[in-house]
Parts: sequence; structure tokens; C-alpha cells
Amino acid sequence: MWQFLTKYFRALAGSLFLLTVGVLIGKARGRLAEIAEFFGWKNPAKSYPIDFPEIPLSVLFPDSISLTLFDFDGQDGNVSALELVVLSALVRKHQPRSLFEFGTFDGRTTRNLAENAPETARVFTLDLPDDALAAARLNPKGDIKFAGKVETGYKYKHAPSAAKIIELKGDSSIFDFSPYHQSIDFIFIDGAHTESYVASDTRNALAMLRGGGVTLWHDCRPSCEGVTQVLNRFYKEDARFRNLRRIKGTNLALLCP
Ligand SMILES: C[S@@+](CC[C@H](N)C(=O)[O-])C[C@H]1O[C@@H](n2cnc3c(N)ncnc32)[C@H](O)[C@@H]1O
Repeated sequence: MWQFLTKYFRALAGSLFLLTVGVLIGKARGRLAEIAEFFGWKNPAKSYPIDFPEIPLSVLFPDSISLTLFDFDGQDGNVSALELVVLSALVRKHQPRSLFEFGTFDGRTTRNLAENAPETARVFTLDLPDDALAAARLNPKGDIKFAGKVETGYKYKHAPSAAKIIELKGDSSIFDFSPYHQSIDFIFIDGAHTESYVASDTRNALAMLRGGGVTLWHDCRPSCEGVTQVLNRFYKEDARFRNLRRIKGTNLALLCP
């Protein structure tokens, strides 16, 4: 209690200073931005334009598609309902035999990928091992915000489609992807979101992709520096990315031959 009160009154005094005399001091003014961001202010200096074109849903899906969807509502950390529809529809359209997901989380997306994939398809899904999740739980900030927040994959554990799902454990920056090289038809990247992780996940995804395969990234939005900067760079520098598109109305980026 003593520790809490010390912290509370220190924060109270600091905030009063910051919001009055502090506005005259440059260094203190920087802290105001941090507080405002905590309360939802979008900092324009932290916005990264997306340099590749958008593709409208009507172009991506000119024909009608039947889908099977579960857990439509979702929770913080999941893809949006529309993104879930788009991912499931892409699976129906491309009929992948093997799928790979970076970032299992609660397994909502994994289950929907599996439900819409062909009967004999396999869905590999990678998340951090339990000890790394436990460490992340003690430091629930920034990029690892969703690590260890829920039991990994609990949304598909008792579903019939669980038979199609293979759980993998490891940090994607050091995981051995070589057994999957050139054998995956559909990849969804939504693990760690820093530049170095997104770049390494992207390189590993390309190595796993079988000819004609599809890759998607989540969080392709101006406020997500890691994903946006890495994809802009690949689009500019790597000819294999010339068909890269942001799917209109979503935060999904799609690379499709
Ligand atoms: C935003 S969540 C994924 C959400 C999920 N795709 C969905 O739609 O419900 C990110 C997940 O990536 C996992 N993750 C974070 N860093 C990782 C890493 N280095 N390697 C593997 N998984 C990681 C987290 O534990 C978390 O479960």
C-alpha cells in the first residue's frame, strides 16, 4: 500500500506540473504526446503511407463464394469480422492443400482457415512456446501485447476441424522453417509486428511458398510502422512483390501471382 501511495502521489504531482508549467519546457511537452497517445490520440508523425495500390473486394471476388464462419464477433487481438470473411473467402477461392499461420493467438483465424480449406488440407500454426509467453505476460507492452493473453488455440481445440490443424511452437525469428520449404500454398503473417520480425517472417514465408501460392499480412495500416515499412521496401526493391496489394476496407496486404 505504501509503495502504491508513493507511486500515486508522485504521478499526481508530476501530472499537475506537466499540464501547467511543464508545457513551457520542451522535454516535458514530449511526455504530453505520450499521455495523449495512451488515451487514443493518433500522432500524425507516426503515420507511414502505404506505397502500393489497393484492390477492391469486387475485383478480388467477382463470383459468389459460400463460406463457413465461426466466432464472428472475435476479441481484441483478432482480425476484424470483414478480414475473417476475406481470409476465408480467399481460402475457398484458392483451395490450398497446405496453409501456414504466423501467430495462432486464440485460434479463431486458424479455425476459420481450416473450416474453409479442402478436407485433406493441413493448417500449420506457429506461436511462441509457453515459457516465452509466460515471460511476455510479465511485460504486456508494445509488440507482445497479445502474447500470452489467452490460451493459445483454444478456439479450435474441440472443433472437428482441429484434425486439420498442426500446432507449432517457437519464436519465428529462430524457428526452423526448412521442413516446409516450397510446400505451402497459403500463408498468413500476424505474429510479432516489429520491422525485423516482419522482414524475417516475410523472407521465411517466401521460402515456404509453393509456386502459385498466396501470402497475406495483417496490420497493413499507416499506424503500424513494422508491417508498412517492410512491405513498402519489398514492393520497391523486390520484383516478386510487384502484385502486392492492400485489400480495400481491410488492414490485409495480399501477394498473389
Ligand atoms: C495479434 S496476435 C495474432 C492474432 C491472430 N492472427 C488472429 O487473427 O486471431 C499475435 C500472436 O503472435 C504471437 N507472437 C508474437 N511474437 C511471436 C514470435 N516471435 N513468434 C511466434 N509468434 C509470436 C503472439 O503470442 C500472439 O498470439
